[in-house]
Amino acid sequence: MASLTLDRVTKVYQQKDLPPTRAVKDFSLSVKDGEIIGLVGSSGCGKTSTLRMIAGLESVTEGTIRVGDRPIHHLKAAERNVAMAFEGYALYPPLRVSDNIAFSLLRGRMPKEKASERVRMIADLLEISDILPLYPPNLSGGQQQRVSLARALVRDADVFLLDEPMSQLEPHLRAKLRARIKDYLIEHKMTSVFVTHDQTEAMALADRIAVMSEGVLQQLGSPVELKERPTNLFVASFIGEPTMNLLKGQTADDGGTLQVVVEDEQGRRAFAIPLPPGARGRVPNGKRVHVGLRPHKLIVGETNGRSVPRVYGTVVSNQWLGDQTYVGIEIGGCLVLAVADQHVKATVDTQVALGLAPEALHLFDVESEIALLHGGDVAAESQTALLHGGDVAS
Ligand SMILES: Nc1ncnc2c1ncn2[C@@H]1O[C@H](COP(=O)(O)OP(=O)(O)OP(=O)(O)O)[C@@H](O)[C@H]1O
Ligand SMILES: [Mg+2]
Repeated sequence: MASLTLDRVTKVYQQKDLPPTRAVKDFSLSVKDGEIIGLVGSSGCGKTSTLRMIAGLESVTEGTIRVGDRPIHHLKAAERNVAMAFEGYALYPPLRVSDNIAFSLLRGRMPKEKASERVRMIADLLEISDILPLYPPNLSGGQQQRVSLARALVRDADVFLLDEPMSQLEPHLRAKLRARIKDYLIEHKMTSVFVTHDQTEAMALADRIAVMSEGVLQQLGSPVELKERPTNLFVASFIGEPTMNLLKGQTADDGGTLQVVVEDEQGRRAFAIPLPPGARGRVPNGKRVHVGLRPHKLIVGETNGRSVPRVYGTVVSNQWLGDQTYVGIEIGGCLVLAVADQHVKATVDTQVALGLAPEALHLFDVESEIALLHGGDVAAESQTALLHGGDVAS
């Protein structure tokens, strides 16, 4: 195991008679020894290209890659000691599953007995012991995928790269294996980068998550940081299920509070959202902003004694999903989705109060799309300021 460092890595694909594709741009990332990084982003944003450059399956156009202090970007794949589980599995069809998994161990001159023991252990972990004697063409997609994962995890590599390692598995098995794989990675202190389209998987497995868009790293942070302090509009709308409500508006100082006046496409005044005390001075009055409201942080109906600003709207949909309620509310011509952890009895076409907890609210600059304010941070800071009230009095 070792740390992994990508320093300003760029990948340009050149294809005959076609313009070059800049798949990865100036990508820098430091993965600590034993750390688990989740890599997420829309399809085609450069996730697989990034892993393939680390593994040595694609050349690096610009930049450097190091494992520990050792530069590896100029080395052949076989010289890097990096293990990878592929999106397309890439198994050897003429070899049995057991031999596919043992292949790199035996090539690395591990004694046969020890290699078999390792293969049995990893097959147990991934629930593929019963298919060890079979050949890859006779396996289901989910089985092939676990063989590919086993072939990577079984190795004593410095770095482990897993490209959508569980995408083909049914949700129940996926949740079970996710927990086991996490324990295994932690127990063996395996430095790893995994790609996933499943946010729950990213949140559950990763120490930190890297969010990419169009070849560019947007933000690297813990799952909580990405949720509570998204650096820009892309990360805010990409992370979180259901996605953040996004409205357009303008800040307005009414003399008492700073508010965002939300407007629809016609520029009509729709409704005002009071910003948390302490927001004044952070965002200039009259600034055009994207307003983000996290569905899970909005409070439908009773606020359970919490004092938060409230707005009123009409219920347009109410879905009880077994352990959560999704409530669609129309406020001043804008549709806002709120999620409650309990069963909410809000009937369609009736009026409901929506509590705007500060932590639900995020503002982004309209032009640059960079975050201007996270309501939760402002509220927490003004709480802290209250604690120092005695200082001010004396
Ligand atoms: N071998 C290649 N030759 C030319 N272009 C490529 C090649 N591989 C990938 N690309 C292009 O590079 C970009 C990034 O592709 P990549 O496979 O890294 O995306 P990804 O994030 O892994 O997507 P997905 O989530 O769909 O797997 C895409 O525009 C893709 O078309
Ligand atoms: Mg991919």
